[in-house]
Amino acid sequence: MKFFIDTANLAQIKEANDLGILDGVTTNPSLMAKEGIKGEEAITNHYKTICEMVDGDISAEVLGTTFEGIIEEGKKLAAIHPNIIVKVPMIKEGVKAIKWFTDNGIKTNCTLIFSAGQAILAAKAGASYVSPFIGRIDDSGWDGVELIGQISRIYKLQGYKTEILAASIRTALHIVKCAEAGADVCTCPLEPILGLLKHPLTDIGLAKFLEDAKKM
Ligand code: E4P
Repeated sequence: MKFFIDTANLAQIKEANDLGILDGVTTNPSLMAKEGIKGEEAITNHYKTICEMVDGDISAEVLGTTFEGIIEEGKKLAAIHPNIIVKVPMIKEGVKAIKWFTDNGIKTNCTLIFSAGQAILAAKAGASYVSPFIGRIDDSGWDGVELIGQISRIYKLQGYKTEILAASIRTALHIVKCAEAGADVCTCPLEPILGLLKHPLTDIGLAKFLEDAKKM
C-alpha cells in the first residue's frame, strides 16, 4: 500500500517525506484554505513547491463544477508539473470530465466517493484513483472500511485498473484496516502516520535495553 499525506502544510509534508515512506500528497480546497493559500498564482506556486519536495503523485483539486470549467482548470493544473493528478468531484459533469482527461492522457483522482456505485462509475470513466472518504462514512454511522473492501472486491472481479485511495483517515487503526481491506493507497494527516510507530511495549523494551546496555 502506498502512503500519501493529506495536507497542504509544507512542514508536515517535509516531516513525512523525511521518514522515507511518502509516495505522494493529496490536497483539497479546505486544506489549501487552512494554509492561507489564496488566488491562482499562489495556488500554482504552492503546488509547484509540493511537487519539488515530493517525488510522487500530487493531487490538485479543481474548483469548477461544469464540464467546461473542470476541463479548463484541470488542463492548467496538469501543466504545473508531470506529477500532478487532477482531483475531480464525483458529480455528473465530473465523470464526463474524467473520461475527457483519460482520453487526453491526464491522470485523475475522483474524490468525494461514498458508495460502490460511484466507484464503479469513476473506474468506467478511467479515473487513475478513486477516493472513498472512510472517516466521514464512519461519522455518519456507517462502516467506511467495509466500503474499501467492497470496492476492492468489485475492482478485482471486473478487472478495473483504478487504484483505491482510502481517504478521510483519522487513526492509525484506519490505516491498518484499509491495508487489510485492499486499499492501494491511504492518504492521511501526519498524526495517524506517526501513530503507526507507537506501541507501549516498544518504549518499555527500549528503555530496558538502554538500561541493560550500561552494564555491558
Ligand atoms: C481526500 O483526498 C480528502 O482530502 C480528505 O482525506 C478528506 O478528509 P477529512 O474527511 O478528514 O476532511
